[in-house]
Amino acid sequence: ASILVLNGPNLNMLGSREPAIYGRDTLEDIEAACAERAELLGFALDFRQSNIEGELVTWIQSARTEHDGIVINPGAYGHTSIALLDALTFAELPVVEVHLSNVFRREEFRWHSYVSRVANGVICGLGAQGYLFALDAMARLVERD
Ligand code: DQA
Repeated sequence: ASILVLNGPNLNMLGSREPAIYGRDTLEDIEAACAERAELLGFALDFRQSNIEGELVTWIQSARTEHDGIVINPGAYGHTSIALLDALTFAELPVVEVHLSNVFRREEFRWHSYVSRVANGVICGLGAQGYLFALDAMARLVERD
């Protein structure tokens, strides 16, 4: 199976971005950890990041035919983007939503996510390890699909 791991805005700054909240791992570190786990699980991995909402939408649209599941850290777009929600609905694929931080310990505007409405599961607060848990969960979700 082929899994698309999508990262939204500002996640390209991981490592130096508010490390007390997001940790010291860079996005490249997270990608390397995901690649290792994907190989163990027998997944082809497509790991991407964009700061542009429409680019994420276009990638999700293509995933409908090109991938078997989507792991997404939508960043702040999770809190704002009906367009991401609509694209994920169109994709008709299993979705696992990941947030590095525990959004529920933070500002109230982070408590709601449009993406959660279409996610099979949501992982937050466990840092970079959350991506690995998401891939583990995908092993079952793509089977069922
Ligand atoms: C985040 C949480 C969001 O609220 C925030 O806007 C981010 C990162 C996380 O991984 O904890 O950009 O998605």
